Amino acid sequence: MNVNQKSFPMKNPIIVALDVDTRDRAIELADGLTDIVGGFKVGPRLCLRYGEDLIREVAARGPVFVDNKHFDIPSTMIASVRASFDAGASLVTVHALSGREALFKMALLEKELNQIRPFRILAVTVLTSWDQSSLPSVMTAQPISQHVVDLARLVQSSGLQGIVCSPHELDLLQNMNLYLVTPGIRFSMDDLGDQKRVMGPEQAIRRGANALVVGRPIIDAKNPVETATEYVMALYEKK
Ligand code: C5P
Repeated sequence: MNVNQKSFPMKNPIIVALDVDTRDRAIELADGLTDIVGGFKVGPRLCLRYGEDLIREVAARGPVFVDNKHFDIPSTMIASVRASFDAGASLVTVHALSGREALFKMALLEKELNQIRPFRILAVTVLTSWDQSSLPSVMTAQPISQHVVDLARLVQSSGLQGIVCSPHELDLLQNMNLYLVTPGIRFSMDDLGDQKRVMGPEQAIRRGANALVVGRPIIDAKNPVETATEYVMALYEKK
């Protein structure tokens, strides 16, 4: 399939989460930020409204991370990931909890699709919106940090390298040779929104993140272009 796609790997690690409800606003943001940021993230909020066409449109403006966090039987996950790839995705997410068989099949699929163009399947370990008290009872026997490490090992032994994690989990996952993508990125003066455990962009990169997802601080800014530029520049400023 012929996809007009801005290529992956990204020119810098900042991925802007296009967490908006209309195609027009998403494309307006992507047009403004295409020369500045490394890529764009879209999730069910846009995918359910505009589907494949929207992924294609954004992919023409930068590498697209389709964050639909698949958690299903392996055959459905394979078909869903293929659909995102065919639309132009460079990154997609699945849940690490979907288990060894599904992850192993994801690793085979990633290998196959990489013959066509660079593509990564990222596994989400424990959602950052969960804390110890919100863990389901079957998971309370050990702390979240141990679940994250165990799930990361499962992901890696299944043949995938990509993980989505909180910036506060970066230290736990160092030296595992993983590709680490982290949301929860804020400058100290930014509004936290519903994110609880945040970190500055340069600090997250120093701790081993390979890509950073930034949403509201950029898309809700008075001047998203200026704010996105500040996020990118922060990574290259000498301290
Ligand atoms: O606006 P903000 O910078 O908090 O956006 C973070 C983005 O990352 C949102 O799209 C959110 O859905 C996503 N995300 C997250 N935590 C995860 C996985 C994804 O915040 N564990």
